[in-house]
Amino acid sequence: MDFLELATKARTCRRFREESLPAGTLDWMVSCARVAPCGGNAQALRFAVAESPEACAAVFPALKWAAMLADWDGPEAGERPSGYIVIMGETGARGRLNAIDMGIAAQTMQLAASTRGLGCCIFLSFDPRLIREALGIPAELEPLLVMAVGLEKEVRRVEGPNPDGSLNYWRDAEGVHHVPKRPLEELLIIRR
Ligand SMILES: Cc1cc2nc3c(=O)[nH]c(=O)nc-3n(C[C@H](O)[C@H](O)[C@H](O)COP(=O)(O)O)c2cc1C
Repeated sequence: MDFLELATKARTCRRFREESLPAGTLDWMVSCARVAPCGGNAQALRFAVAESPEACAAVFPALKWAAMLADWDGPEAGERPSGYIVIMGETGARGRLNAIDMGIAAQTMQLAASTRGLGCCIFLSFDPRLIREALGIPAELEPLLVMAVGLEKEVRRVEGPNPDGSLNYWRDAEGVHHVPKRPLEELLIIRR
């Protein structure tokens, strides 16, 4: 598959077939993040996975789903993620570098998951206290980002900006999730 095809396919997914992930999936995803580039090759990030039904049930209430879908509080039982990966950093350390490193790690894992037909949703909006409790994260580590992982059910479609020019994602009557993206000419603004 051409890489642009993979990058286009690996859209945020928020509704899943709630079945067990193939054994070792989350460890494999973290193995992909393990070899991702990072500032100073410091490898300062740490990872926690939730894969048991009990751990997943404890993580779910900590997450804030799809702020732009005003009437939707997140996936119903039966459509929820089957696993989670939490990216952690040393509390108060390497602010900007950890932020960059975690973005690279998260997208590496999301692309990796997509090659196996799995969908992900990255979360910056979550209750850190609940995440700490759910996974027993020690005080010296801070949960920085959460990724939900599951067997993708939701149909997502990349399109140009909405007719009114806005970039808000939206869901149609058939439940298809539409993701507006700016055209290349608007982003690639200098070529010499
Ligand atoms: C840094 C970051 C934080 C995000 N936080 C959330 C979040 O808290 N809740 C959520 O439902 N989606 C979250 N998302 C998913 C974005 O809403 C999504 O990437 C965006 O709508 C574009 O859709 P796409 O990923 O399919 O391109 C986040 C994505 C990124 C990269």
